[in-house]
Amino acid sequence: MRISAAFAILPELYLAITAGLWPIILAIYHTPSLLLQPHELSYIFMFHAWRLFGDGVDGNARATKQSLITPHAYGVVLDIGAGHGHTINYLDHSRVTKYVAVEPNTHMHAELRRTASAAGYTESTGTLLILSCGAEHISTILSSLPTPLGHPPIDTLISILTMCSIPSPQITISGLITEVVRPGGQILFYEHCLSDRKDVGWWQSFWTPFWRVFFGGCCLDRPTQRWIEDIGGWAGGEGVWDTNGEMEEHLFFYRAGRFVKAG
Ligand SMILES: C[S@@+](CC[C@H](N)C(=O)[O-])C[C@H]1O[C@@H](n2cnc3c(N)ncnc32)[C@H](O)[C@@H]1O
Repeated sequence: MRISAAFAILPELYLAITAGLWPIILAIYHTPSLLLQPHELSYIFMFHAWRLFGDGVDGNARATKQSLITPHAYGVVLDIGAGHGHTINYLDHSRVTKYVAVEPNTHMHAELRRTASAAGYTESTGTLLILSCGAEHISTILSSLPTPLGHPPIDTLISILTMCSIPSPQITISGLITEVVRPGGQILFYEHCLSDRKDVGWWQSFWTPFWRVFFGGCCLDRPTQRWIEDIGGWAGGEGVWDTNGEMEEHLFFYRAGRFVKAG
C-alpha cells in the first residue's frame, strides 16, 4: 500500500479536530463538570465534526443512496444513527408512512427535526419519532413503537455509516433484524467496512484506536457487510455491492446492501 494512502486519513483527522476542539473548550469553560462526562464531550465533538463533514460525505454517496434508499424504503422506517437527517432527503414520502430516528446524540436532534419537517415528517402528525437511545437498546426501541398486529414493527431498517460506531455490533445488528424488523421487511445499509485487501485492513486497524477517540467510537475495521450477510434467514434482496469509483487503497472501504427478511 502506498504510504500516502496509508496516511491520507491525517488531514481529515486534523480538520475534525480543528472543527471540534474550540466548541469543546468553550463548553468546558461554561460547564467544567463536562470534564467528568467524556460521553457528552464526544457528542459535542461529533456534532461539530459532522456539521463539517456530513454534507460532503452525503454528496459523495448520493448516487448510491438514490439507488439504495429511494426506490426501496417503504412503510415504517427505522434509521439508526440518523445524525442531522441526511437520509430523510432520499425517502419517497408516498411510500414511507413514518420515519423513526434513533440518535443518541441529542445535539443533532434540532437539525434532524428541521430536515424531517421540511420533508413532511412531524411529531404532531405522528409521522416522525426521534429516540435518544442507542441502536443497541432494542427493548427501548420496541417499547416506543406500537405493534398492533403482534409482529415486529419495522418495515425498513436503514443504517448509513452507523454500524461502525454501535457497541456489540454483531449482537445489535442481529437483534435489530430478529426483533425489530417484521418478517418480509428489509435492511438497507451503506457502511464503511474492513477492506478485502490485507494491507489496507492492517492500516484500518492501525488507525482505529485514534480515529474512534474523536469520532464517537467509529471503527474503520469492522466487516459489517459480512456480519449482515451471515445473519442468514434472508429471502431476497440484492445482497452486498460495492460503490462506484472507489479507490482500492482507500481506508474507507464502502459497501452498500439490501437484504429482505424471510416472511
Ligand atoms: C457518521 S454519523 C452518520 C449519520 C447519518 N446516518 C448520516 O448518514 O448522515 C454516525 C451517527 O451514528 C450515531 N451513533 C453513535 N453511536 C450510536 C449508537 N450506539 N446507536 C445509534 N446511533 C449511534 C452518531 O451520533 C452519529 O449521528
